[in-house]
Amino acid sequence: MSELIAQSPADPLALAREWIPASVHPGPLMTLATIDEDGLPDARSVLLTELDADGFHFHTDLASRKVAQLRAHPEVALCIPLVAEARQLTVQGRAREADAAELARAYAARPPYLQQLAWLNSHEFAELPQPERVSRWQAFAAAHPDGFAQAPGWTGFVVEPVRMTFWFGSTETASRRLEYRRGDDGWRAHVRAG
Ligand SMILES: Cc1cc2nc3c(=O)[nH]c(=O)nc-3n(C[C@H](O)[C@H](O)[C@H](O)COP(=O)(O)O)c2cc1C
Repeated sequence: MSELIAQSPADPLALAREWIPASVHPGPLMTLATIDEDGLPDARSVLLTELDADGFHFHTDLASRKVAQLRAHPEVALCIPLVAEARQLTVQGRAREADAAELARAYAARPPYLQQLAWLNSHEFAELPQPERVSRWQAFAAAHPDGFAQAPGWTGFVVEPVRMTFWFGSTETASRRLEYRRGDDGWRAHVRAG
């Protein structure tokens, strides 16, 4: 067995949590790739809000394009570059919608700006002239001095991985990857060229 596999956790989510500690808030930015209604790949950045034994959690707006795409095609890819550490984590998996308790917990943990964004992030708001967008934003904040109730458009997903690939950069030798694939009998690890 390769020394890299022998030194690494059997569960790739445990290794992911070593790479991305829960104490880092907000979590890293990830590229979320989905499949659109024409079968074309689509991608955008989202924040990793939680990483646990189920997978990779992110939160978004119910009316967004990505939610419609995920409901039609839950298959996704994530790419999380950790440039400062010369690492990258890529994930293939399936996204499922978070339950109500998780959504409430995640909304409560969001900073006020992002809580308010979940209320005002509509197409109609985007089309207003910028001065009106600023004044309406301030008026909404002033009308809610005690904070914001959970926005009706707030939702989230957890990506349950089937393949996770950890890229290790090095200035001293070639980069390499540790790839985990989930089969019927659990996770299998393989070393790959970088
Ligand atoms: C730094 C950064 C962080 C972002 N975080 C999120 C996020 O956590 N959730 C989200 O829905 N959109 C986030 N966005 C906006 C998305 O990239 C995207 O523009 C938006 O969600 C609409 O995507 P869609 O039309 O593909 O659904 C972020 C954008 C940037 C630049």
